Amino acid sequence: MNNVEVTVMRFDPQNDEHPRYETFQIEAKKNMTVLDSLFLIVEDQDSSLSFRCACRLGMCGSCGMVINGRGRLACRTKIEHLGERILVQPMRNMEVIKDVAVNMDKFFKNWEKVKPYFVPKEETEEFAIIPPSSGRRELIDENQDCITCGLCFQSCDSVSMREDEFIGPAALNRAYNLIADERDGARAERMDMVTETDGAFGCRTFGACVEVCPKGIKPMVTIQKIKMKKLKRAIGLKW
Ligand code: FES
Repeated sequence: MNNVEVTVMRFDPQNDEHPRYETFQIEAKKNMTVLDSLFLIVEDQDSSLSFRCACRLGMCGSCGMVINGRGRLACRTKIEHLGERILVQPMRNMEVIKDVAVNMDKFFKNWEKVKPYFVPKEETEEFAIIPPSSGRRELIDENQDCITCGLCFQSCDSVSMREDEFIGPAALNRAYNLIADERDGARAERMDMVTETDGAFGCRTFGACVEVCPKGIKPMVTIQKIKMKKLKRAIGLKW
């Protein structure tokens, strides 16, 4: 067991003018995560500390935070990998509700903008199937695991610089998955949606989205693929 200092940003926009930082001492056990440490603080030291979580398994995407300066899932971040001083802050590019709990409306409104669901082709009578052995699935398989945690969105300087204008990496990655899926009946419409200035062409390829994604997705790469498809389409090539 080690003594660890956990410093958390505290801010209640209803009552505080400015954020402040508060430090808690905890006894860290082997395999303890940052999320576990926040629960310990709530149980033993300050029950008013606010944060968000649900599954505690890295599946639901609700415990995104900035931990020691980097966007991470608190439930998948072990204290032993961080040292004896830990700084916990809310995700950037989103409004703080309280402490490290943020309002993700902006993120999900952008997600909705790309029509993030599969649209069957009208003339299709059979189930739309791509046989796993065909190789055609490879285009989309690697980008399917997004858990909408918002870590890419919070880390993205294109989002920070362009405020509400750039829809962000997660929504564009989702759009690419559908655009690259030959079974989807709304590819052209979706392509038009995501190649406006607030879409793929708003990405300045900073690459932080690739660094922070807990699922290993590379949104910056899929965004460049959208741009390439747009160019192919513009010059009449198969896209
Ligand atoms: S609590 Fe669900 S991903 Fe961390």
